[in-house]
Amino acid sequence: PIRRFTVPQIAARKGDTPIVALTAYTAPMAAMVDQHAEVILVGDSVGMVIHGLPSTIGVTLDMMILHGQAVMRGSERAIVVVDMPFGSYEESPQQAFRNAGRIMAETGCGAVKLEGGLRMADTIRFLTERGIPVMGHIGLTPQATNTMGGFKTQGRDQATWPAHIADARAVEQAGAFSLVVEGVIEGLADQITQSVAIPTIGIGASNRCDGQILVLDDMLGLSGRVPRFVRKFGDLGTQASDAIAEYAAAVRDRSFPSEAQVYR
Ligand code: KIV
Ligand code: NA
Repeated sequence: PIRRFTVPQIAARKGDTPIVALTAYTAPMAAMVDQHAEVILVGDSVGMVIHGLPSTIGVTLDMMILHGQAVMRGSERAIVVVDMPFGSYEESPQQAFRNAGRIMAETGCGAVKLEGGLRMADTIRFLTERGIPVMGHIGLTPQATNTMGGFKTQGRDQATWPAHIADARAVEQAGAFSLVVEGVIEGLADQITQSVAIPTIGIGASNRCDGQILVLDDMLGLSGRVPRFVRKFGDLGTQASDAIAEYAAAVRDRSFPSEAQVYR
């Protein structure tokens, strides 16, 4: 069996060739991403992208485990990281360990990711000291959307930079092996990346990071409206819609099924 990328291998990519990361939520998509990416994130974005939720707040541990299992079955080479959903880790390090332990044991994934810098440092340390690798996530943290009043790019006011850099350092010092930096302006992304010895993985955070991640459905053109930082590398939404329209027309005019699809 092919060995997956390990936590130390990803951590060692600091300042090296960029880490390629993407989200995936299903086995077939994970199989495709697995051909090209080193990191597959089962993001809690699954709630919005796949389940039609208005935000990530309603995502449950059971949803993350179910999708984590599917992604593990579909992949064999990338390290799979599963997001800890809102409400599953913030209460205490013990709560976080109990739920991260379930994610690790029931999916077989290689690491978990959780949002928050300084405020989550004790929790990250509690997990990493007990055998659960943690990917950090700072900058724009979508689970805090209700307190932040929406999705806002971070770091436009340079006075806020020290706090973001302190967040990055706290996550690193707590033992995280890598760090997602989301929705920050280029200058701050650069400072954060230079401030920590673990690789930063950017999303909406310029190329001044040690790797990049996007929501798979966004970059494939499968989701509707996407933020400006997303480049659509594909237009699968249009292709799928056209295919469905053709099917409907073919059923209605009885041209489907035709000779090739008929058993005689
Ligand atoms: O949930 C998610 O998809 C994420 C990334 C985009 C970093 O957290
Ligand atoms: Na997430």
